[in-house]
Amino acid sequence: MYSQDFQNLISTSDKILSLLEGSSFHSDDFLVWEVARKFISQAVTHSGTILDIGCGNGFLLRCLQEWQNYPLIPYGIDTNSEFIGKAKLLFPNQSQNFAVLSIENLDKLVSAGLPDKYDLIYWNVWDNWDFDSDRHLEILKDVMSHVRPGGRLILGLYYTESQYNLEKVNQLKSHGFPPDGMTKNSPDKWEIVCWFDK
Ligand SMILES: C[S@@+](CC[C@H](N)C(=O)[O-])C[C@H]1O[C@@H](n2cnc3c(N)ncnc32)[C@H](O)[C@@H]1O
Repeated sequence: MYSQDFQNLISTSDKILSLLEGSSFHSDDFLVWEVARKFISQAVTHSGTILDIGCGNGFLLRCLQEWQNYPLIPYGIDTNSEFIGKAKLLFPNQSQNFAVLSIENLDKLVSAGLPDKYDLIYWNVWDNWDFDSDRHLEILKDVMSHVRPGGRLILGLYYTESQYNLEKVNQLKSHGFPPDGMTKNSPDKWEIVCWFDK
């Protein structure tokens, strides 16, 4: 059962369309989003701070707060300043938790006013990301260095071909990054999340 605040947030298809646009997800149907993304919450197994790398308008973070029972303190970075502006509006009491910053500049988290380390980091791996690339593997290591001891990095793999998502997991394994766990959205869906515990 969603909180009243959340029910108000998603009360019209126009609101949903705008919220999902800010998450780069093209639909005005909340159910379509829920079916595609709610399964991520299975990887959230403790409370604390959560950094969404490429947070868009922060709607995924807001949904994760509703989709499971562990209290989460949201943080987000994105290269798109318009999205960060929207995330600040979505979390008015935590607007300082969002900053325009690239995954390539995580060393600037603290100067951007955000913590250096997090209980959870979530990253919707971009379609052009290639874990066979040394540069991309270095960035993955850097991302992991911002997870607190006892924390977890969650990677979302949402390529529309299931096989391609499994290939990404296999790339990670073959380069010495075997995930500590992974879950597929329902058997007829392609989305996968995998995670690394620290
Ligand atoms: C598909 S959206 C993901 C939104 C949200 N995290 C989710 O999972 O629904 C990807 C976001 O990553 C952002 N992005 C792309 N390249 C980035 C980079 N190098 N560093 C940080 N964010 C980036 C885009 O601006 C976009 O908002």
